[in-house]
Amino acid sequence: EKGGWSSFMAKEISEEPDAVANTILGRVVDGSVVLPELEPLDDIIGRVDRIIILACGTASYAGILGKYAIEKWSRIAVDVELSHEFRYREPVLTPNTLVVSVSQSGETMDTWMAVQYARDRGAATLSICNTQGATIARGSDAALYTHAGPEVAVASTKAFVAQVTALYLFALYLAEKREALGPSEVAANVEQLQAIPDKLRTVLGAGPLVRELAHNMSDTRSVLFLGRHVGFPIALEGALKLKELAYIHAEGFAAGELKHGPIALIEPGQRVFVVVPSPRDDDSLHPKVVSNIQEIRARGAHVIALAEEGDVAVLPYADDVLRIPLAGPMFEPLLAVAPLQMFAMELAAAKGLDVDQPRNLAKSVTVE
Ligand code: M6R
Repeated sequence: EKGGWSSFMAKEISEEPDAVANTILGRVVDGSVVLPELEPLDDIIGRVDRIIILACGTASYAGILGKYAIEKWSRIAVDVELSHEFRYREPVLTPNTLVVSVSQSGETMDTWMAVQYARDRGAATLSICNTQGATIARGSDAALYTHAGPEVAVASTKAFVAQVTALYLFALYLAEKREALGPSEVAANVEQLQAIPDKLRTVLGAGPLVRELAHNMSDTRSVLFLGRHVGFPIALEGALKLKELAYIHAEGFAAGELKHGPIALIEPGQRVFVVVPSPRDDDSLHPKVVSNIQEIRARGAHVIALAEEGDVAVLPYADDVLRIPLAGPMFEPLLAVAPLQMFAMELAAAKGLDVDQPRNLAKSVTVE
C-alpha cells in the first residue's frame, strides 16, 4: 500500500496538498465558509466568550495555530492546553466556554478524558478529528472532520496540515458568524487558504535538497529550532519530529526567548533551523528574526533558514536556505512544516532507522 514510496511517512507527506484541498472541499461557497456539521453549536457560537483547545503532541501544535487564527480573526479568547494537564488542575469552565479537541485518531485517551471532563462540567464540545466515527468525535456535540485520509506512519504529517486547515476554516466561520470580519476579508483569507495545495506541491519539490542536508548532518547530536508567532509552533513540531524519528536531542523555542536562556546553548557548530517570517507583511517580525539569526551566528551557530522566496536579507547570515513560496503571513506555517518533516524523515533514514515505526511509540495512545 506504500505505492512505490520508501515509507508510509514519505507517501503521507506527498499527500499533504490533497489533505489540505480535501479538507477545504465543499466547505467554501462564494468566498464564505459553510459548515453545516456545526449546527449543534449554533447557540454557543453566538455567546461563547472563551475557547479552550485540547490536544496532545503534534495536534497541540496545530492547536496553537488555531489559537492565533481564532483570536486574530474572530476576537474570541483562546487557550491551548495539553489534554493531560487540563483535567488535573481544576480548570474554570463556564456555560459560555467551548472546548475544541484536536485529534487525528479521535482515540487518544488523554484527550478523550479531558473532553469528558469538560462536557460533564457544562462546556460545549467540538471535535476536530481525522477518523470517521472515532470515540472523541462521537462523544462531542459536533465534529469537524479533517479529510487527510488514513494516516499510517506513527509520525503525524498530513493530518497536521489538515488540522491547521480545519482550524483556520473554523476561525473564519466564527469570524463571519460573529461579524468580527466582513465578507470580503473572510473571502480574501479563504482564497489564500485555497492557494496552499499548489504551493505545497512546490515545497515538496525541495526533497533532494533536504535529503542532502540531512545526510550531511547524520552525526549531529542536537538540533535547535526557532520561530516566532506562527513560526513558533512549527519550530516545536520540527523538534518533535526529529526526536521521535531520528532519536536526536531537539528543542523548539520561540525566537524571542533566546535571550532569556536558550542562547547559552549556542556553541560553534550548533545546528539551528530558523523559521523566518515573511518580510512583506507590514507588522512583520522579519527584522527581529533576522537579528536573532545574527545573534546566534555570531556565537558560531550553523543556521538553516526557512525563508520566503525572494527574501535576500537572510542570505548573509544563513548557512543554508530552504525556500518557501509566498503565502499570507498566517499561511506560511502550512508550507514551512513540510521541509522539517522531510528533514526528520531523511535523517532517520540516513541513520538506518525505521521511519514508520519509531521505537517506544504507538500511532494512537489509547492509555493514559
Ligand atoms: O491521534 P492524535 O492526534 O490525538 O495523536 C496525538 C499525538 O499522540 C500525536 O500527534 C503524536 O505526537 C505524533 N506521534 C506526532 O508525530
